[in-house]
Amino acid sequence: MPRFRAHVMCLGKPMVGLRMDLAAALLAWYDRHARRLPWRARPGAARDPYRVWLSEIMLQQTRVAAVIPYFEKFVARWPTVHDLARARQAEVLAAWAGLGYYARARNLHRCAQTVSETRGGAFPDDETGLAELPGIGAYTAAAIAAIAFDRRTVAVDGNVERVLARLHGVREPLPKSKPTLRALAADLVPELRAGDYAQAVMDLGATICTPAKPACGLCPWNTACAAHRDGEAEDLPARAAKKERPTRHGVAFWLERAGDRAVLLRRRPQEGLLGGMVEVPGTPWRDEPWSTDEALEHAPVHGAWRPLRGDVRHTFTHFHLTLSVIAATADADKADGQWWCDRRDLDDAGLPTLMRKVAKHALKLLTPPATRQP
Ligand code: ADE
Repeated sequence: MPRFRAHVMCLGKPMVGLRMDLAAALLAWYDRHARRLPWRARPGAARDPYRVWLSEIMLQQTRVAAVIPYFEKFVARWPTVHDLARARQAEVLAAWAGLGYYARARNLHRCAQTVSETRGGAFPDDETGLAELPGIGAYTAAAIAAIAFDRRTVAVDGNVERVLARLHGVREPLPKSKPTLRALAADLVPELRAGDYAQAVMDLGATICTPAKPACGLCPWNTACAAHRDGEAEDLPARAAKKERPTRHGVAFWLERAGDRAVLLRRRPQEGLLGGMVEVPGTPWRDEPWSTDEALEHAPVHGAWRPLRGDVRHTFTHFHLTLSVIAATADADKADGQWWCDRRDLDDAGLPTLMRKVAKHALKLLTPPATRQP
């Protein structure tokens, strides 16, 4: 790679020697400092591709700390890919509720069914085969192939991009620099222990080479790191300015049944955002705010609807959402595809985070404060 020759020569080594030194230093560091994560096999133990796959799907766009309790819950309830394949989709979605990006859960279930029913429960052991399964993109295929099967793949996520941009002093902003960073990452993957190496770079990015205040003094690569040498670790990688997220608007209908105050719920269509998840009925989401009269055309029943004060805010990847909530009490029968949920069961109803916020907002405003004891 001629563009980096100057840097490589400045470190005084040919690329192959550099790769071995860097990989060996990182693996030695990993042997002492690897994070203990529930999906990682103990040293010397066999790796379970089911656990590796499940963790990698959960870790897409999601922090390790948020994933751990969900991973534990899933493997306790569905210890093998066959168990997960036999579950109902609604159960899987309910167990996933709160983790976000719900297409992942639908694809997870489809993938488990494919592996269980057409492959006798065995995951493909290379990137190409893995990438043919539902929900497994290029990064995830590379990560699973490396971690579960020790394949020499190049799994480059945001953490790895940051580490490589700093190590090689790549100043070109992301996302333009992606191909360069990928080529640099590919050059460093060792012949042996490719799975440990992939996880070691992830750990380095998560614990040492962090976005802010990197702990360069503790880094096994600090003597080779261009950004550390030039005092610009915290400035890399550069990023092109992001587009601002627009704000969209909707109205949620909080309907309580007269008598027991059970709440009306329904399931969203399979396609689209929050596909297949449980929700409080609502209007579509659009760019302009809704007037109450306009919104009421979408109400599940006619009734004495009244707006609750305040609103609920939530941020998705591509937009902010502001939901106002209007409430009513009705004796009405539910329509097809809707059901009444006891207020005490709302926590276990499989509501995604946005709908948990709606429930919290409505319950706070509609529950009278406990009367004080004299
Ligand atoms: N991020 C993505 N995959 C990961 C893994 N296997 N361990 C830790 N962080 C990760």
